[in-house]
Amino acid sequence: MSEVSSDTVVAIDRTAADHPIPKPGILDIHAYVPGKAKAEGVAEPIKLSANENALGSSPKAQAAYAAAAGQLNLYPDPKAGIVRTAIAERFKLEPERLIFGCGSGEVFQLLSQTFLEPGDNMVQGEFGFAAFAIGARAAGGEVKFAKEPGYRIDVDELLACVDDRTRLVFLANPGNPTGTWIPFSEVRRLHEALPPSIVLILDGAYGEFALDPGFNDGLELARRSSNIVVTHTFSKLHGLAGLRIGWGYAPTAIVEAVERIRLPFNTSVPAQLAAVAALGDEDFQRASIDLVEQWRPWLTQQLGGVGLEVVSPSATNFLLVGFPKAPGRTATEAEAFLASRGLLVRGVALYGLPDHLRVTVGLEAQNRALVDALADFMQGA
Ligand SMILES: Cc1ncc(COP(=O)(O)O)c(C=O)c1O
Repeated sequence: MSEVSSDTVVAIDRTAADHPIPKPGILDIHAYVPGKAKAEGVAEPIKLSANENALGSSPKAQAAYAAAAGQLNLYPDPKAGIVRTAIAERFKLEPERLIFGCGSGEVFQLLSQTFLEPGDNMVQGEFGFAAFAIGARAAGGEVKFAKEPGYRIDVDELLACVDDRTRLVFLANPGNPTGTWIPFSEVRRLHEALPPSIVLILDGAYGEFALDPGFNDGLELARRSSNIVVTHTFSKLHGLAGLRIGWGYAPTAIVEAVERIRLPFNTSVPAQLAAVAALGDEDFQRASIDLVEQWRPWLTQQLGGVGLEVVSPSATNFLLVGFPKAPGRTATEAEAFLASRGLLVRGVALYGLPDHLRVTVGLEAQNRALVDALADFMQGA
């Protein structure tokens, strides 16, 4: 992601300006670019561009959502009490240590707003999820990007970026858009090396798809620490991306600070009801994991077979796929070719990966359509 340092911003007299001027730094932020949802001339494209749940969402969550229709005149519970209780019970957590957000994205933003002031910085991997940097910069913080050799988080590189103005370290494990992960031993090593004044945010949005026994989302470690926040979302495993609800588990002192600036009704009535129902639907969760477990290795192998370089192993519900630089075979051309076949995937040039595309693991027919199309593309069909 291209960087514009605040030093390069020329001071402007905002009071004397003939139109309102945003505070310094805002216009240097790249607005978030979502995965494409439309393909020209294709009525119902196959959307593999946003790491959504290919199975949809739990029928129980859908029923709870529908039942919420009678309560739309009421403000939601500002503390999201029913979700709080359900999550606390399910993961054996203290309910008062939970923060709820309009997606986990809001929790990241709240943490940046709470801890960063101009001159401060946060550290993340060079390919880290764009929402981390947007929130940090909006709060006036600088973003320091640590190298990710082999498309993987490197704890030493993260630590090398930390200085005395670092307040937050964001680690998505597994990461987006790389799909790679680091073992818990490395997370622990990172935590041990960080000063206790720095908040370590462990974003577990895709953690449920990380099936290696060496993976751990850090909830246990967070329980005993005073500076770890673990976040999770209902957007991926539970397929509730459209409802916008996520959560963080944080030390009490951090919760107390964040709660001062969190707007009271940031998770809606339907989102709260559907989230509780989704959490109770273990069959849907199992099916979602099974789908990824079945098709992720198949897609990896098939795409490798047509001459593409899949960043692997992926521990998520998507793959990062590398394309040749040769004209006619590039990632940009592949994205357009796939769109012409009604297949939407995610270009990741804004993440500093112009030669890659990110593809969600879909249903069988979708995965087969993707492989067939990419085989044709690579053969110059
Ligand atoms: C790394 C990462 N973290 C978190 C999220 C989830 O965001 P939200 O809970 O706001 O839907 C995503 C979604 O794409 C993501 O890729």
